[in-house]
Amino acid sequence: MKPCVLSGPMRIGGLVLDNPLILAPMAGITQVPFRRLAREAGCAMVVTEMVSADGLVRGGQKTAELLRGHPAERPISAQIFGADPQIMREAARIVQDQGVDLLDINLGCSVRKVIRRGAGAALMREPQRLEAILKAVRAAVTIPLTVKMRSGWHPSGDQAVKAARMAEDCGVDAVAIHPRVAIQGFGGNADWSLIARLKESVSIPVVGNGDVRGPDDVLMMKRQTGCDAVMIGRASIGNPWIFAQALDLLRSKHPQSPDLSTRLQGILRYIDYAVGHFGETQAVRMMRSRLCWFVKGLPRCSRLRVAISRLKSRQEMEDGVRAYFEMVDSTGS
Ligand SMILES: Cc1cc2nc3c(=O)[nH]c(=O)nc-3n(C[C@H](O)[C@H](O)[C@H](O)COP(=O)(O)O)c2cc1C
Repeated sequence: MKPCVLSGPMRIGGLVLDNPLILAPMAGITQVPFRRLAREAGCAMVVTEMVSADGLVRGGQKTAELLRGHPAERPISAQIFGADPQIMREAARIVQDQGVDLLDINLGCSVRKVIRRGAGAALMREPQRLEAILKAVRAAVTIPLTVKMRSGWHPSGDQAVKAARMAEDCGVDAVAIHPRVAIQGFGGNADWSLIARLKESVSIPVVGNGDVRGPDDVLMMKRQTGCDAVMIGRASIGNPWIFAQALDLLRSKHPQSPDLSTRLQGILRYIDYAVGHFGETQAVRMMRSRLCWFVKGLPRCSRLRVAISRLKSRQEMEDGVRAYFEMVDSTGS
């Protein structure tokens, strides 16, 4: 195995990332407010939720809205999915014109709606179509281009190795892998040995992903697989501080758990960013379910859910959050 650099900067095409930690794309979650928190916690790059190439090319307002970012979260990668090379090419141009830093193609989504259209993980079993897409998109944009894949459809992982080599040959600048087969959903374990195999198979950077549950796993994945960067998904939901903790570990420092004040300030910023991005009415509606992510594990966290379930304004929400944290603090937990 090639030696692995633990915490230093990494390069994807012409883009230099400060460190090897990336927020995974998560539909419905990795929107601007959450991405900003992740960047503030130290992750080097964020990715949009997956965006339909067809929707972009048709000029759909809701689809285009998914690409609207904030300067504070850059560098940002935009992920598109689709099955038609010409449409993917057009969509790639639209994404580049929006000023994003990097373009990612989804080869991993195994949701039935996406697979039925021949997109996402379906492309892993259609190498000719995949090649046509990669070539068309590569020719259309100058920003760095990446792909994010699953293992494919067979546990051997051979499809992933072939797709990664093809991507490299087509001029793709990095490959991210979540090593579960398409039909596996989130069951079983991610097969990290496939990340190591990909690292041996291509010379472009390999981003490892899957089952990083805590900061220690980042270190373990890097050491076990030699991957160039680690992408974190579910473990960051409500806990963007995992990036700060992982960075500490990578830099041989003792990782600090977020104290109550850090959590409170993070939630208040989350509300602020959400109101700024979505407007107060929509943001407050969204916050009713999302704020609970950030207090999971704290005493009587269900109280916060109940307290904010009917609130209608930003002020009320902030007051409700503050009152909850005062209660937690006064119980000495
Ligand atoms: C709610 C949710 C939404 C997701 N949406 C996307 C997506 O839009 N694009 C994508 O490539 N992967 C998506 N994923 C997969 C994640 O990016 C990641 O590959 C997967 O969660 C494994 O990483 P983890 O174990 O760190 O969560 C999603 C995962 C979750 C849980």
